[in-house]
Amino acid sequence: MKVVKTEADKLIEAIGDNSSYDFNQYSEKSFQRRVEKILSDYKLGIDDLIDKLHQDPVFLEEVVKNITVNTTEIFRDTVTWQILKHKVLKKYMHKSEINIWHIGCSTGQEVYSTLILLNELDLFTKSQIFATDLNTDVLNIAEKGIYKFREIDEFIESYNKVMCTNPFESDTHEDVTYEKYFIINRKKNLITIKPPLLNKTIFVKHDIVKQGNIFERKFDIIFCRNVLIYFNHELQNKLFEFFYDNLDDDGVLIIGRHEGMLGEIATKFKKEESIYSKRTI
Ligand SMILES: C[S@@+](CC[C@H](N)C(=O)[O-])C[C@H]1O[C@@H](n2cnc3c(N)ncnc32)[C@H](O)[C@@H]1O
Repeated sequence: MKVVKTEADKLIEAIGDNSSYDFNQYSEKSFQRRVEKILSDYKLGIDDLIDKLHQDPVFLEEVVKNITVNTTEIFRDTVTWQILKHKVLKKYMHKSEINIWHIGCSTGQEVYSTLILLNELDLFTKSQIFATDLNTDVLNIAEKGIYKFREIDEFIESYNKVMCTNPFESDTHEDVTYEKYFIINRKKNLITIKPPLLNKTIFVKHDIVKQGNIFERKFDIIFCRNVLIYFNHELQNKLFEFFYDNLDDDGVLIIGRHEGMLGEIATKFKKEESIYSKRTI
């Protein structure tokens, strides 16, 4: 069922009237597509959906969870993780504390990817990791670190690329097998994170559009990957300014491969792939 802009606006207003969620600055197209899927899954018309939202706060939460997209992977976009491992993290060796914030962390696969690199570089103990998302269901999965994943071989390939090869120094090969960090059950298609990586991260429900920096510190690294893509340009730019202000002077922002920075704000960062290093002006 096609959803037009006026219908989407009515729905955004109904959500706003009954909760603190604000989808006004989400990308119009992606919002409409998600709502079309919700209408078809629940077999409802838009007016029935809006009526139900007004009456049922539990249903409203369910709809909000369905509007957001939660896809994520361990070491997705291997080049970004290779740069992080071989170039970026080394900058922080001398620091006594490293503060990292994963925004829109979903089920936490990228959080665990980061923890593995920190552990390999002996930075684990002095790192503080915060990971936030709008959706409590994904945060609960993230805390447990147990993932159902059919493409186990694909996962191992990405892991080996990041962990065992170094594109910046050919002929180097490290042998850090995945068994060090994961238990893999091929029969059940399950990947389980091993204990040393668990219980390190502070997972918190948080809305980046409404809540700002609740952690009372600046960050060395802010990850906000594949979240901005669902926001309009005005909100993206507002958040880029926010990230700039909340990074330490030598801090970096890491965004998704299909996301980018345009205009004035881009001059405030130095870019390598999806990694943006703050320039102090
Ligand atoms: C596609 S996932 C990206 C996960 C991970 N960062 C990655 O790139 O693999 C997008 C996540 O952003 C979260 N999200 C969407 N809007 C948000 C908001 N306003 N505040 C916090 N998280 C949000 C969604 O709940 C979802 O888990």
